Amino acid sequence: MTVFVLNGPNLNLLGQRQPEIYGRETLADVETLCRETASGLGLAVRCEQSNHEGQLVDWIHEARHTGQGIVINAGAYTHTSVAILDALNAFDGPVIEIHISNVHRREAFRHHSYISGRADGVIVGCGVQGYALGLQRVATLLRS
Ligand code: DQA
Repeated sequence: MTVFVLNGPNLNLLGQRQPEIYGRETLADVETLCRETASGLGLAVRCEQSNHEGQLVDWIHEARHTGQGIVINAGAYTHTSVAILDALNAFDGPVIEIHISNVHRREAFRHHSYISGRADGVIVGCGVQGYALGLQRVATLLRS
């Protein structure tokens, strides 16, 4: 079973961008963590990152046919994108929403998420460990 791990805009700059908020781990570190976690859970992962909303929508559509679960950090699109919500609503498997930072301790515009209305779980403020926790939750939901 394959879980899509999708990262949105600016997450390619992890480790360089505001490390006091997002930490020092890079996107490559996150993807290694996801591959190792998934392998321990008996899952495969497909890790993708894009700065473009439509590309994220296209990967969610692909997951309809080749993925069984989605772990997604949509970055700033979390707070703006009805298109990503609509795509996730067309996906049948478990969806876990991740935010590295605690968005609820930050600016008010980060407190609303379009994705949370579809997500089966939301992991916020746990740093990059949130991705591993998200994969564990997807594994549990896929088994139940
Ligand atoms: C983020 C939080 C978003 O508000 C922000 O736009 C990001 C990253 C996080 O992982 O904490 O790009 O999703």
